[in-house]
Amino acid sequence: MYRSHNCGELNASSINTEVTLAGWVQKSRDKGFMNWVDLRDRYGITQLIFDESRTDKTVFELAKTLGREFVIQVKGTVIEREDKNKNKNMITGDIEILVTELTILNAALTPPFTIEDETDGGEDIRMKYRYLDIRRNPVKNSLLFRHKVAMEVRKYLSDLDFCEVETPYLIKSTPEGARDFVVPSRMNEGQFYALPQSPQTFKQLLMVGGMDKYFQIVKCFRDEDLRADRQPEFTQIDCEMAFVEQEDILNVFEGLTRHLLKEIKGIEVDKFPRITYDYAMKTYGNDKPDIRFGMEFGELNEFAQHKEFPVFNAAELVVGIAVPGAGNYTRKEIDGLIDWVKRPQVGASGMVYAKCNDDGTFKSSVDKFYDQEDLEQWAKITGAKPGDMIFVLSGPANKTRAQLSALRMELATRLGLRNPEVFAPLWVIDFPLLELDEESGRYHAMHHPFTSPKPEDMALLETEPGKVRANAYDMVLNGNEIGGGSIRIHDKATQQLMFKYLGFTEDEAKAQFGFLMDAFQFGAPPHGGLAFGLDRLVAILGGQETIRDFIAFPKNNSGRDVMIDAPAAIDDAQLKELSIKLDIK
Ligand code: AMO
Repeated sequence: MYRSHNCGELNASSINTEVTLAGWVQKSRDKGFMNWVDLRDRYGITQLIFDESRTDKTVFELAKTLGREFVIQVKGTVIEREDKNKNKNMITGDIEILVTELTILNAALTPPFTIEDETDGGEDIRMKYRYLDIRRNPVKNSLLFRHKVAMEVRKYLSDLDFCEVETPYLIKSTPEGARDFVVPSRMNEGQFYALPQSPQTFKQLLMVGGMDKYFQIVKCFRDEDLRADRQPEFTQIDCEMAFVEQEDILNVFEGLTRHLLKEIKGIEVDKFPRITYDYAMKTYGNDKPDIRFGMEFGELNEFAQHKEFPVFNAAELVVGIAVPGAGNYTRKEIDGLIDWVKRPQVGASGMVYAKCNDDGTFKSSVDKFYDQEDLEQWAKITGAKPGDMIFVLSGPANKTRAQLSALRMELATRLGLRNPEVFAPLWVIDFPLLELDEESGRYHAMHHPFTSPKPEDMALLETEPGKVRANAYDMVLNGNEIGGGSIRIHDKATQQLMFKYLGFTEDEAKAQFGFLMDAFQFGAPPHGGLAFGLDRLVAILGGQETIRDFIAFPKNNSGRDVMIDAPAAIDDAQLKELSIKLDIK
């Protein structure tokens, strides 16, 4: 037996117990005649004491050779610490182990960074030695937290009769809007599997198979540009239900999220607000609005155009936000913000502002063109109060909304309005079915090609495809899309039509998705579902937006695992076996 107890459980009630512990040396304090060692494992830290007058001489001497991160096993007696040495902040702070036997299970090199909550190691070195990073509380606790969330998900869904089914990883492309990672097939020369961007088609086939409530906590793979909330391999809580309408899906998964907020964070939330995609874009300039704070958009065309200000007159949209308490910003602060919106990442060409003075008057950067009455209208529309500042952008509608949305988020961050311990979930519904790709001039599916158009909008497909709405929805939490899904097409004719609108020839559609359309002819039930991004959900519940901290072995921003050094070249023999010739310049 390596250990009778772990390092986080012994306390005053254990005094005089004989114990065996095993773990890592966190640190030792050698006072010559007395040597204290902090022994650490996943559960905590227990203090060991080696005392010249009470400890066997060989054990005492051996203890002096221990270095940081040595793996040891000790036997000894739990004793009470002297009062002055007690540590009220630790579960084990009242006791220490008077060691009688010490075994070094493995020596350790000096770690390249300190294994403490606050470490001196930068991101790169911690990723290279991720296994050491995992010994640190912040990383370890994030993994434990993730486990807890996953367990609650499994429990909740299983109680509702959902069945977890595994779907294959070696498949054919499922379009979710990213590039595929591909795997060459040795046995099928010149042919490739694609790793799933999601199990979308398989879960639909499970519905045809009668598995009416499916879920899976599953890895998905997408070759796309990486950001703080994106990894090339990530995990979904993938779900599908048969014989449901949108309302049923929203209720079940709102229930799951509410359950998680309650069990994990102890927070009760009311029914989630539901807003349409159009409303989200007009009000927040964003389809994943952060509604922990206001600063909603006010469209000012009516009161800003037809005056003498040519910039606004030429614009498709003039739109502003009222920033609470920002009326006292200095000229320098305002100029700083103007520079901020002009950065290429945001792309505005300039910004107009209007201060709302405490006495109800206004002072704007465009006083030459607008009188107090105009500005009063701006204040009314943006909801500005005395002491606030109105910032106004103008230009092409979509671009301007995106710019103002970026400013809204930035200001909320600066004003401390994005409290990670406040949770504001909502549904965004009625997404457009199709999205115009400006470059190719072609429409592509905004969610994916299996999403059902709203029946009442079907007629528009021929005439105004961009106006067709889908039975598609996203769950948004604190400005992040944590899940998305749709009601699916479940008949062959509609699915065929959809592929046609997406620019597939009949042959292409058949070659890629014939299996699904075939299945639809064998009694496919109406069905729909959604998938949550588990990494994102866990990170946000954990009060962070970087998902990497909640993944045991994440990739860096170039998609590399720097610990195992992947991806890597493969040798010629392996390439030959796979019939692959490289042509790298
Ligand atoms: P979607 O593409 O919206 O839908 O993905 C579902 C959720 O997965 C998360 N997500 C990611 N998380 C981390 N890294 C990534 N690269 C990444 N990409 C997506 C997001 C997102 O909301 N098959 C459909 C679901 C359905 O229709 O049922 C799908 O995959 O949180």
